[in-house]
Amino acid sequence: MRQIQSQIDVLNEDFRRLNADASNTPTAFEGVAADPEIEFLLACVDPNGNATDGIVRVQTTEGIFTRVENPDGTTDEEATGIKFAPTGSPAWPADRYLNIWVCNLGNNLLGYAQFPDMMVTQPETDGVVVHTTAFGRIGNVSAPFDQGRTATHEVGHWLNLWHVWGEGGRESDDFVDDTPNQFGPTFDCPSFPQTSCSSNDMFMNYMDYTDDGCMNIFTQGQTDRMRAMFALGGIRESFVTCDLIANVCQTPPTISGPDYLCSTNTFTLQNAPDGSTVSWSASPAGMVGISGSGNSVNLTPQGNGQVTLTATITTECGDVEVQKAFVTATGPIPTSAISLEPFESSPYVCPDQTFGFHPDPNEPWYQYEVQVVNGHYTKVSHGYFWIHFNNYIPSPPYPPVYDAGVSARIHNGCSWSDWKPVSMYTEPSCPGGGGCELCFLTFPNPADEELQVQWNPQVKRTAGDDPGFDVQFYDQRGKILFSQSGISEKISLDTRKFKNGFYYLHIRYKEGLIRRQIRVER
Ligand code: ARG
Ligand code: ZN
Ligand code: CA
Repeated sequence: MRQIQSQIDVLNEDFRRLNADASNTPTAFEGVAADPEIEFLLACVDPNGNATDGIVRVQTTEGIFTRVENPDGTTDEEATGIKFAPTGSPAWPADRYLNIWVCNLGNNLLGYAQFPDMMVTQPETDGVVVHTTAFGRIGNVSAPFDQGRTATHEVGHWLNLWHVWGEGGRESDDFVDDTPNQFGPTFDCPSFPQTSCSSNDMFMNYMDYTDDGCMNIFTQGQTDRMRAMFALGGIRESFVTCDLIANVCQTPPTISGPDYLCSTNTFTLQNAPDGSTVSWSASPAGMVGISGSGNSVNLTPQGNGQVTLTATITTECGDVEVQKAFVTATGPIPTSAISLEPFESSPYVCPDQTFGFHPDPNEPWYQYEVQVVNGHYTKVSHGYFWIHFNNYIPSPPYPPVYDAGVSARIHNGCSWSDWKPVSMYTEPSCPGGGGCELCFLTFPNPADEELQVQWNPQVKRTAGDDPGFDVQFYDQRGKILFSQSGISEKISLDTRKFKNGFYYLHIRYKEGLIRRQIRVER
């Protein structure tokens, strides 16, 4: 991209005589040096009317493009393959765009151009071709053709300039009076003066064959010849009558209107090009009603969600499309549309746990408000956020089923929905929480004949991968008296064989370990 822009910069310097090396023009030629007053800009609209950076990148199977010549000296573009699929890339309409193809050219050719007279018969190949390493003045360029002058030279041809020496030796000329007659091309970079045909050669003219660093001048005569192309009736007149750059690129049309359409509202096309007409459409279909025509229309909500409004502007240069996205809503979203989905993973909460709240990625304009019972916590956000549950979950002992009292409501850009309660429960096994104290009932304590260990039926159990729980019973010295794994509901331990005294019961569930002291007493 930077290499491409550097080439556009060179063109804008050379065709405005703003080139830094203009000072190298010999004094003898300063009087005829001219500013052609032609400027270049990467296209901002493609032939379909869509926004573009003006650059088309096409992968090709052709390693090197070899220019194939017709008997009359023009290029056989079909055989050359640069300007047509499958190896090349088709031109954009040549009455509106200057096509510049950049590719790996064979046979040491730096570039070539199509003269304007061929616009009549071959508009689809109009433009210039430049060898990759001779394009621009930064990046992948190779000396001594690394200052972007190949494009300057080729665009000179595209604007009807001949080489300064003419094409046919001593007798021919370039149809420009202020370029001296010259016997043939000049190569490399000789020192001034060089003489042929009884005059000093203008070898520093862009239309000679010297090195890039040697070139620095278009003359007034060349300027007149180029500008005639743009005059009334000129072959490239359409670039002036259809001023895409001034009308569209420099003052881009836009659509103004609300970002949220909650009731009927006006959308207006700003900077409509002079003499253009506009037609309006919205997608997806059925979301809004459009009434009126011209540069301002009224839109009425008919559905809920994101809408793209398109203004198709018909100009002398073809169609240009401008779009605006907005959200439309016919009323608040129903509470039935609020689900647990925005919450991360499960509806269970642990003490001291943070909970992620994910906005619905399909409706990024939604705003969420989540509130915890008793006003302990409230938060409004468009984006991802966390809720820290430590503040309002009661201290141990926790109730077995704790409704965390979370409510949520959603703003759809126009209004809030009603509050909808989102039930949450204390997690049976809280990671790193030392085990789920409330999950297990152990009774009686003291135990006389039997100790019951069972899952508290009031506590919800995580469905699916529940491994059951393990029970171990120890005496005071740590000796295991009883052990069993994978218990799903309950177990009863015969305590009649144990002496009166204190024992330890360990219950393991998932990562948690619960220790309880049990007394046996008969
Ligand atoms: N048409 C010429 C060629 O065939 C391009 C000359 C460009 N000269 C330059 N100094 N970049 O190579
Ligand atoms: Zn040339
Ligand atoms: Ca001349």
